[in-house]
Amino acid sequence: METKIFQSDQINHAAALLRQGELVAFPTETVYGLGANALLPKSVAQVFAVKGRPSDNPLIVHVVDFPMTQKFVESYHPLTEKIVKNFWPGPLTLIFSIKSGSLSPVVTGGLSTAAFRMPDNKKTLSLIEETGAPLVGPSANTSGKPSPTTAMHVYHDLKGKIAGILDDGATQIGVESTVLDLSGEVPTILRPGAVTKEQLEDVLGIEVPLDKHLVKESETPKAPGMKYKHYSPDTPVLMIRPDDWEKALDWAEKKDQKVGLLATPKIAENYKTADRFVFDEDTIEAATRGLFSGLRALDEAHKVDVIFAEIFPEDHLGLAYMNRLKKAAAQNYFVEK
Ligand code: TXA
Ligand code: MG
Repeated sequence: METKIFQSDQINHAAALLRQGELVAFPTETVYGLGANALLPKSVAQVFAVKGRPSDNPLIVHVVDFPMTQKFVESYHPLTEKIVKNFWPGPLTLIFSIKSGSLSPVVTGGLSTAAFRMPDNKKTLSLIEETGAPLVGPSANTSGKPSPTTAMHVYHDLKGKIAGILDDGATQIGVESTVLDLSGEVPTILRPGAVTKEQLEDVLGIEVPLDKHLVKESETPKAPGMKYKHYSPDTPVLMIRPDDWEKALDWAEKKDQKVGLLATPKIAENYKTADRFVFDEDTIEAATRGLFSGLRALDEAHKVDVIFAEIFPEDHLGLAYMNRLKKAAAQNYFVEK
């Protein structure tokens, strides 16, 4: 199959393919999604096949607006209106209890709840509108690889396997949406993202807890997808604490390990390793935007033996950055040898 790259004047064409049951990847503000018509179980099944994704890992249903969720949702949490008003469109996925039979078990993994999100991307909102149905969309990478933040990343992983990719350049945020469970009494964060715990607490005026697995590693995550090994390049990744750069680079030199550096300009200017991916700015936003792109770039050429990555404090957006980085690094920090 030839994988076509669509520009914004070809949204009609991409929507026609989705209506026919084909798969088309779409841009969002977070990462690119692998789109299929959520109402066609056969197409949705293809999404799992193409990604190599375990079938017990449910998908997010992408909608054009809040009313589009009403056909599926059984009951809303009392705080829903406030949350939607403040954060949609945006990087926040909401889990609701659904009407039985309203969505195929292929979408929900057989759960009685489902995930919904209105992405903040005009092209994708038009694509959903034109398709006339919500779109499922897991990140458009091969399972286990860093999520794609450009159309070229999607092309690299999925060319020949999907009908097309709607191109909208690089995504702004760089990591997947926050997943907030609204199916129980207490709104709970199942996956950290760019809508932060602090922002949710500010708006809602209550404490918004993190799912237990985000606090204690031994707990089983409530979002099935969080249990899988994720975002993991072939090259080993080590997280470097602020005071350890010198020691870590000395160690690598002694061991004849070629290092790929993944860091902000502030750190990178001190260490002139040949292979490097330097974030645009010294901010957590820039680091988060560049994280997956950087992991891919340093991994691709297979030129380095180990990737050294900068860490950030685990609050605000840093919680999402560190959640993804820790997975890529299989939790490994550099420790003095
Ligand atoms: O930013 C994003 O969310 C991107 C873009 C493309 O929208 N999509 C994305 O999808 O990251 P995916 O499939 O990679 O992640 C969906 C997460 C998984 O961890 C999944 O287990 C969880 O949401 N999830 C889906 N339905 C759920 C449910 N009913 N209960 C708990 N977790 C659920
Ligand atoms: Mg994913």
